[in-house]
Amino acid sequence: MREKAVRYLRCPHCAGSLSLDGRTLLCPERHSFDLARQGYANLLRRATRFHSDTPDMVGARADFLAAGHFRPLTDALAARAREAFEAAPGSPTDDGCVLDVGGGTGHYQAAVLDALPDGTEGVLLDISKPAVRRAARAHPRLSAVVADAWDGLPLADNAARLILNVFAPRDAAELRRVLRPDGTLLAVVPRPDHLAELVGALDLLRVEEEKADRLADRLAPHLLPADRREITATLTLDHTAVRQVVAMGPNSWHQDPARLAARVAELPPTVTTTLAVTLAAFRPAT
Ligand SMILES: C[S@@+](CC[C@H](N)C(=O)[O-])C[C@H]1O[C@@H](n2cnc3c(N)ncnc32)[C@H](O)[C@@H]1O
Ligand SMILES: [Zn+2]
Repeated sequence: MREKAVRYLRCPHCAGSLSLDGRTLLCPERHSFDLARQGYANLLRRATRFHSDTPDMVGARADFLAAGHFRPLTDALAARAREAFEAAPGSPTDDGCVLDVGGGTGHYQAAVLDALPDGTEGVLLDISKPAVRRAARAHPRLSAVVADAWDGLPLADNAARLILNVFAPRDAAELRRVLRPDGTLLAVVPRPDHLAELVGALDLLRVEEEKADRLADRLAPHLLPADRREITATLTLDHTAVRQVVAMGPNSWHQDPARLAARVAELPPTVTTTLAVTLAAFRPAT
């Protein structure tokens, strides 16, 4: 947890401001949150009813992303983030943070922070402790927090100048509350042909049609669509990468690992598949 990032957070119980006292976050009502050994804060309000990504899922995601398979998406996100910053330059005293909601291992946020001015602070929320543990080391300017994105965000009003949301949950009213009026939300959703060759060969979950349109419907009236970019690339994956890309997502809840491994073993040694996602920018409604 970076001292400079604390001002963007708020107490999940009483919405009071937080301050750092040694290795404990404290609010004026004396709610307190000890930092974990790895430096992240746990601001969960209560035990959650959601499945959380497991260490195996998080490990597969970290290895797959570190191998650079989704680099076209990472690069597009970093470039669009830079444009958003240039369009809303902010004040020298408080520029607002870059918030990643459901940010996983911090892979995307680290790339975005590298593309933005040096003073920019990153705050990442995720419900999975194994993910947040990794995120806490993903970038020197990244502060990682365990939080439930469906239970109110533990962030101050107007804390964020830019919000990232990549294949992750989004509560429109809360995103609007924490986003500055001149800020931008960058959301990434899969298109129906995302990883389609693997979906067919391995009987994976299918992407709903028109996810980007449904996203815009669900974010209205709080956030309004600005521009949209389609990112498409051909991926060449060996068996290890195929196993990782399946294990890192929701398919890991639905597939028996032994059955999946047997199916992957029957594939040719390298498989060609498609990265097909939409990067959609939204602005707060006025
Ligand atoms: C498909 S992963 C995407 C992670 C990251 N954005 C990426 O693309 O690498 C979805 C993420 O959302 C997190 N998540 C799921 N439900 C959540 C919730 N209610 N609150 C916060 N995070 C949640 C998961 O732990 C996981 O890290
Ligand atoms: Zn409090």
